[in-house]
Amino acid sequence: MKLTDKEKAILQGEQGEGLQKALDYIVQLGEAFDAEKLVDITYCHYLAEMSIYKGDIDILEDISKYGLKAVVPTTTSTLCYDLDDTKLTGIPEELAIEQYKVVDLHRKMNIEPTYTCTPYLLGYIPATGSYIASAESSAIIWFNSVLGAKTNRGGIFTKFSALTGKTPYMGYLMDENRKGTHLFNINLRLKNLKSEMDWSLLGFHIGKIVGSEIPVLVLPDEFKGTIKQEWLIALGAALATSGSVAMFHIVGITPEAPSLKAAFQGTKPKITLNVNEKDLKEAWEENNTSKSTTVDFILLGCPHYSYHQLKYLAGLLEGKKIKDSVQFWITTMRGIKMQAKWSGLLDIIEKSGAKVISDTCAVESHMRVSTCRQFGLKVPQFNVMLTDSVKQARYVKDLIGSEVRLADIHSCVNAAITGEIKI
Ligand code: F3S
Repeated sequence: MKLTDKEKAILQGEQGEGLQKALDYIVQLGEAFDAEKLVDITYCHYLAEMSIYKGDIDILEDISKYGLKAVVPTTTSTLCYDLDDTKLTGIPEELAIEQYKVVDLHRKMNIEPTYTCTPYLLGYIPATGSYIASAESSAIIWFNSVLGAKTNRGGIFTKFSALTGKTPYMGYLMDENRKGTHLFNINLRLKNLKSEMDWSLLGFHIGKIVGSEIPVLVLPDEFKGTIKQEWLIALGAALATSGSVAMFHIVGITPEAPSLKAAFQGTKPKITLNVNEKDLKEAWEENNTSKSTTVDFILLGCPHYSYHQLKYLAGLLEGKKIKDSVQFWITTMRGIKMQAKWSGLLDIIEKSGAKVISDTCAVESHMRVSTCRQFGLKVPQFNVMLTDSVKQARYVKDLIGSEVRLADIHSCVNAAITGEIKI
């Protein structure tokens, strides 16, 4: 790999052992993928250490002893409980104490304690074309596709990118690897794609087909000017759930797809497919692992909710009461929760009995089967979950072991009030 004189000096330890170690990890990553050089990044979304993974926080403590600081704006992904209140999610005390250690360490390292999967909703908007390093599949696909910033799946290497400001030049950082591979003509009407759940199903269906490649979606004309940010968030998260998709294009919508030709960079699609109502129905059926008509846990906010989504939900919950037998979580980030507190929305939602939770979500919490077994807690923590997100549904089934049903926000709210699922 071609390194600059400055990078070589760092690797020789001229700026201390900590930076030498951190850069060495980045170089090793680049060499494993034959990257020709390193590039400077403008932003990092960092994979926060979670106490549900044994030893995860030890690694942070080890690197923090060098006194290194993030050299680019750096946000953090989710943790395993709401740092403001252990009782909100019921995390075992021991895990909460261990988890809280990251807060001080992150502050000392100049890392911003956002603890969310949707940092862009807080205003972290890297410029189109800029190189960044990101963890969290739903954030990666958003940065690449909707913003046109360039990132690979950074995983644990985001720690070292934040501290060095570097990442290998490879994968999605290179223009030639950002062209579409599969063409999807979406033969659906606006009425078929009117909720986050519908877009989630569309992403799930397409992600299964493309695997780790890049789908290009062509929407009918009636969608022009109507696409909501929250729909694209749901689409991206689902694409990265059934597949390991890190980028998509929508012709006329996303920045690298002003035309079909541009989306494919002048090449021909490997395959062209139509998407019909039947495909969404099949995706819905695949994600409903239960026929249960009763529910004891409901989650909205995967990926973490925007202020607008909280506002809409507050409108549905105003004056209503959640059934005693149901836990209703809405997951978001602290910044948006604070905004909702000041505007009065939080009060409306909490009066209904629902909980607005920051920093985490069900699948990132202590409710995982392995953690519950370790702490002698009931497994699974709840019997039937209802959500509008295929990402949450998929991971809850696999990691928490509960049965799952999928429904749009209106059915979720009705079920929260009555305890009965009517879809
Ligand atoms: Fe975010 Fe948890 Fe979903 S981290 S994307 S709310 S699985």
